[in-house]
Amino acid sequence: MHRGISNNSDNTSISEHMTNNVVVIGAQWGDEGKGKVVDLLTERADIVVRFQGGHNAGHTLVIDGHKTVLHLIPSGILHHFVRCLIGNGVVLSAEALLKEIDTLEATGLEVTSRIGISPSCPLILPCHVALDQARERRRGKQAIGTTGRGIGPAYEDKASRRGLRVADMINPDSLRGKLEELLDFHNFVLRNYFDESPVDLEAAVDEITAQGERIAPMVVDVAEELFQASRQGKVILFEGAQGMLLDVDHGTYPFVTSSNTVAGAAASGSGVGPDQLGHVLGITKAYTTRVGGGPFPTELFDDVGALLAERGHEFGATTGRPRRCGWFDAVSMRRSARVNGLTSLCITKLDVLDALDEIKICTAYQCDGDTYDVSPAGAEQMARCQPVYETLPGWKGSETRVARFDDLPENARRYLQRLSELLDVEVSIVSVGADRSDTLVLRDPFQWS
Ligand code: GDP
Ligand code: IMO
Ligand code: MG
Repeated sequence: MHRGISNNSDNTSISEHMTNNVVVIGAQWGDEGKGKVVDLLTERADIVVRFQGGHNAGHTLVIDGHKTVLHLIPSGILHHFVRCLIGNGVVLSAEALLKEIDTLEATGLEVTSRIGISPSCPLILPCHVALDQARERRRGKQAIGTTGRGIGPAYEDKASRRGLRVADMINPDSLRGKLEELLDFHNFVLRNYFDESPVDLEAAVDEITAQGERIAPMVVDVAEELFQASRQGKVILFEGAQGMLLDVDHGTYPFVTSSNTVAGAAASGSGVGPDQLGHVLGITKAYTTRVGGGPFPTELFDDVGALLAERGHEFGATTGRPRRCGWFDAVSMRRSARVNGLTSLCITKLDVLDALDEIKICTAYQCDGDTYDVSPAGAEQMARCQPVYETLPGWKGSETRVARFDDLPENARRYLQRLSELLDVEVSIVSVGADRSDTLVLRDPFQWS
């Protein structure tokens, strides 16, 4: 590639500057099936990188009927030769990571040598977990419904510049001093505001030091590794966690997680330039679910909601909590498509709708006498929005678990077509079952141009 001053006459073709990388993000409130899709697409990638969130994520992979749930390790790990990186945007619980590694390695899979962790990842420590849970208890009915994993307090410490990072856990000389300062601060709040037990400094130093010894060999300069890999023409798959509507800025604040979940965060959370992001693949269910509190205009409290929950096995992969279920919401999805810059859509769990006579899609909201075709930012106005539906015929009696798109029931194809039209985004992948093999790839996101 040329370096120097741009010159139109040098005939540098546009495609020389394009990348085949793919960013996978959740386009709704999480649990859209990102793990399944990342696992599937990893076949085409050299590196898979997580760039935000932490072990609040629960990504389920089903291969030949065998289920694996991942929380922190990128969902490419089951492909033996793929490198799996954890970027600086991820808040890291060393305890959760090591447990996950041990569980995978117990099955005979080589994991440690294939994982790279950024030294800049903020650490989730026991005081963060204690604070997260104490706050939720204190909020009572106003609780956000967090996963209780310490995610919010860890990101707060990052922003306040008092937090510890992976680099600190492998530097015993400075660890104790930094930890003492941090615990001084948090133990005061735990003891005096929440009336909870403080976290013991000595126990924490010992625990983190021991974890650091195991983590140290995995610590790498993730940004530089990605830069060099790109230079060598390697293909990178970015794996989002949570979903766009849980984004701390763009989601249904305050009922959100504490990171940016949008596609743009793949750059800042891994250390690549935005020009390296390539195709943005938004994952959405063929209906909608949400775990935890917050507005959900298309939520169903009737038999249909119960049927979606039952057929979709809608229980959280991290906390086991029942997920709230409702119709597909094209209004919030429009915002999602725009904020993420979606190149294409992957629609999952189409098979869950097989049992329905008719299917509704929310095409607009009505709120305070106005009609909206894009959801409002934030939770308060959204909580007052009423969905406007259009109804499509279902395909009850026919199955979507087929091997070719053309074999889908006609009404299922019409439904997908309608979702694509409403969002003005092409559908590239359709998932019709939990297994890796239950997937219809209509167009390859790695070969888009
Ligand atoms: P993630 O957090 O986005 O990775 O999604 P989760 O793993 O938390 O939740 C998705 C759930 O749906 C998991 O239990 C998957 O095994 C399952 N799943 C994914 N795609 C499909 C599909 O097309 N059909 C059905 N029936 N289940 C699916
Ligand atoms: P994956 O990656 C669904 C939700 C929680 C809560 C809110 C804040 O599996 O899609 P947090 O613990 O992050 O402070 O909780 O965000 N939440 C998720 N919901 N899927 C997830 O991850 C989630 N991670 C967090 O339920 O409402
Ligand atoms: Mg999940």
